[in-house]
Amino acid sequence: MRLLTIRREWQLTAKMELLRATVLGFEPGSTRDRFDACSSHVVAYADGAPVGMVRVTPSSPSLPSWWARDGWSLPTGSDVAELSRAVVAAAWRSHGLYRLLMLEVLAALPPRTVRIATAAIEPDFVGRRFLERVGFRVSVAGQFFRDEPRAMTFVVPILTPVDTERHERWMEMLAAWREKLAAGGLAVSGSAGLETSQPVPRDDAIAADAGRDHVQHGEGGP
Ligand SMILES: CC(C)(COP(=O)(O)OP(=O)(O)OC[C@H]1O[C@@H](n2cnc3c(N)ncnc32)[C@H](O)[C@@H]1OP(=O)(O)O)[C@@H](O)C(=O)NCCC(=O)NCCS
Repeated sequence: MRLLTIRREWQLTAKMELLRATVLGFEPGSTRDRFDACSSHVVAYADGAPVGMVRVTPSSPSLPSWWARDGWSLPTGSDVAELSRAVVAAAWRSHGLYRLLMLEVLAALPPRTVRIATAAIEPDFVGRRFLERVGFRVSVAGQFFRDEPRAMTFVVPILTPVDTERHERWMEMLAAWREKLAAGGLAVSGSAGLETSQPVPRDDAIAADAGRDHVQHGEGGP
């Protein structure tokens, strides 16, 4: 039985950034941006190393509004969660890790304070059908992103409401998916639960990040 551990991280470590840069095909360090410090990162670890992760950013200020070349067309604000930078290490692909991470992220969104989750995908994204199954919908036209270090990525904005009913459904889907993974020989421990980890105060995180774009910090993973 292989073991995966899920954790919500409040700092983007060098190992996490290396995974992200490697998967996206960029130089180590080049994917770090001003939103990392005010985001949390739901990470899957295998043998102590990050093998997959998704960034969750409170939409104030808004990450896709920063990236969008002609304005971001979906809602923003303190009750919106923005999901981005989903990556899975090549060696771990096609085992359902992306599904697991997204379900962990969605099931951990608190419906009392988060009303909407938004994201942007490329039109031919392989996980698109899965995202539709969990409730994401396309409601506006595609647009171009300056999602550094890329300069011109065509994306489709997607959105799902977050409410108690969906929260329960995501919890059920997550439990079922964890069971299925376990039956296939992959045991999952840990969770993305907000109650199990401490956020860095948002103002401090933004202040600490200002002026140090692309500077490595927090060496090493767990
Ligand atoms: C996209 C990515 C995150 C998928 O991770 P993964 O753990 O392999 O995905 P899963 O095994 O959980 O599969 C999720 C869905 O994608 C589909 N999928 C995954 N890899 C696929 C492939 N190579 N070809 C076709 N479909 C694929 C699965 O069939 C599944 O769809 P379904 O639920 O409708 O059956 C991973 O390939 C990756 O990191 N790619 C590079 C970075 C990237 O594109 N990130 C997305 C940014 S929005």
